[in-house]
Amino acid sequence: MTHKKRIVVGISGGIAAYKSAMLVSQLVQSGHVVSVVMTQSATKFVSPATFSALTGTPAVIDPMDPKYPLGPHIELAQNCNLMIVAPATARVIASCALGLADDLLSTLYLNMECPIVFAPAMSAPMWEKPAVQRNVKQLHSDGVHLVGPESGWLSCRRIGFGRMSQPEAILQACKPWLE
Ligand SMILES: Cc1cc2nc3c(=O)[nH]c(=O)nc-3n(C[C@H](O)[C@H](O)[C@H](O)COP(=O)(O)O)c2cc1C
Repeated sequence: MTHKKRIVVGISGGIAAYKSAMLVSQLVQSGHVVSVVMTQSATKFVSPATFSALTGTPAVIDPMDPKYPLGPHIELAQNCNLMIVAPATARVIASCALGLADDLLSTLYLNMECPIVFAPAMSAPMWEKPAVQRNVKQLHSDGVHLVGPESGWLSCRRIGFGRMSQPEAILQACKPWLE
């Protein structure tokens, strides 16, 4: 039996953000309470209205959002069972690995006490860069669970490593925390 969980889905600025609409919808249809946090860049790829409608609650972008008197980085972390960051851009991965807290998503990451799953997505050259690999290793050793990326068609019109895992694969990886 599936128990209702509180889940935060963080969305950063990559083409794969469109796949996250399906991920969020699947989580909601499974009975979970989902909040979406978007980076400013993510809003250029998919409208916050899409995620607000899918979750039934406004997508949060502003770290100073007045609807959260304690700050969304505090209130969204309270009683949260799982954080999923999909897509996780090279910038968000770096910010979280370094603990920069330079936007809402990376500040919320630092405040989370629940399991955290990242689904990276970027071009093959970006993914292969030593700087990115260093940051991914850091997240892994900090306890973050990584799903993908996979090899396949990339939006830069070549086949290579860096494609975000499909929503089904991300859900499968999250299964231990969704039951
Ligand atoms: C069309 C387009 C696609 C992009 N796709 C990605 C991507 O898949 N992964 C990534 O790390 N950056 C990607 N970028 C670059 C990011 O959008 C850029 O680094 C941005 O600053 C990330 O901001 P965020 O991490 O706050 O969302 C893309 C940029 C453009 C214009």
